[in-house]
Amino acid sequence: MRTGRRPRALYLVPDFANPSGTSMPRAAREELLAVAAEEDLYLLEDNPYGLFTRSGDRPPTLKALDRHRRVVYLGSFAKTCFPGARVGYVLADQPVVGPDGATGVLADELSKIKSMTTVNTSPLAQAVVGGMLVTYGCRLRSANAERVERYRERLDTLLDALARHFPPGSGVTWNVPAGGYFLVLTVPFATGEAALTHCAREHGVLWTPMSYFYVDGGGERQIRLSCSYLTPDQIEEGVARLAAFIGSAG
Ligand SMILES: Cc1ncc(COP(=O)(O)O)c(C=O)c1O
Repeated sequence: MRTGRRPRALYLVPDFANPSGTSMPRAAREELLAVAAEEDLYLLEDNPYGLFTRSGDRPPTLKALDRHRRVVYLGSFAKTCFPGARVGYVLADQPVVGPDGATGVLADELSKIKSMTTVNTSPLAQAVVGGMLVTYGCRLRSANAERVERYRERLDTLLDALARHFPPGSGVTWNVPAGGYFLVLTVPFATGEAALTHCAREHGVLWTPMSYFYVDGGGERQIRLSCSYLTPDQIEEGVARLAAFIGSAG
């Protein structure tokens, strides 16, 4: 804005974000929507993890709170059906006016552009997703009941294991996500490529340096942990190995 350029849209993951695991509180969602309306800004709400709550409710989506059609909601079946499906959906009810004055909605325009840039979407992948939805009465929540439980158990296991291996005063801290399967650990040393290679070779456990997610530096002493694909036993073992690595590096 200082350079005279006006942002048109803001991309964000308000529920159990990748990579941070954080969520946006309801008050902040409402504030952001007010700013978006005031500044003529669109919000691109990407929500692939929203179903996977750890406990209780989550705040309504930005789209559910949207009164001024500021939000374009992006859904993916990568986490709720299968990874690599590359099938998603978009809620884009913004009105658009063509050069000839014809009116329509943004979703229809996006659908045409998507179709042209990717030469349609694999019918096989769509059939699998469609079959799953039909089987569960078109309710993603029912289709994912077991998965929600599984991810909940995994995140709980990870949080428990961290608390046991890194007591207060250990110099290691982390956030406690309300859902999803990522969290960020802060450690007392730099966690770049060399540390990751050493940890993988010597201790047999992988994580992601948070610095990978920054454009201009940041996250140098932080790592992202993911527990989506691991059994509780593997999570226990992984945290034990991580603790051995951190003990040797710190
Ligand atoms: C924030 C976010 N959006 C989207 C995706 C993937 O969606 P898709 O495979 O449908 O493109 C992921 C995970 O891979 C993600 O973390």
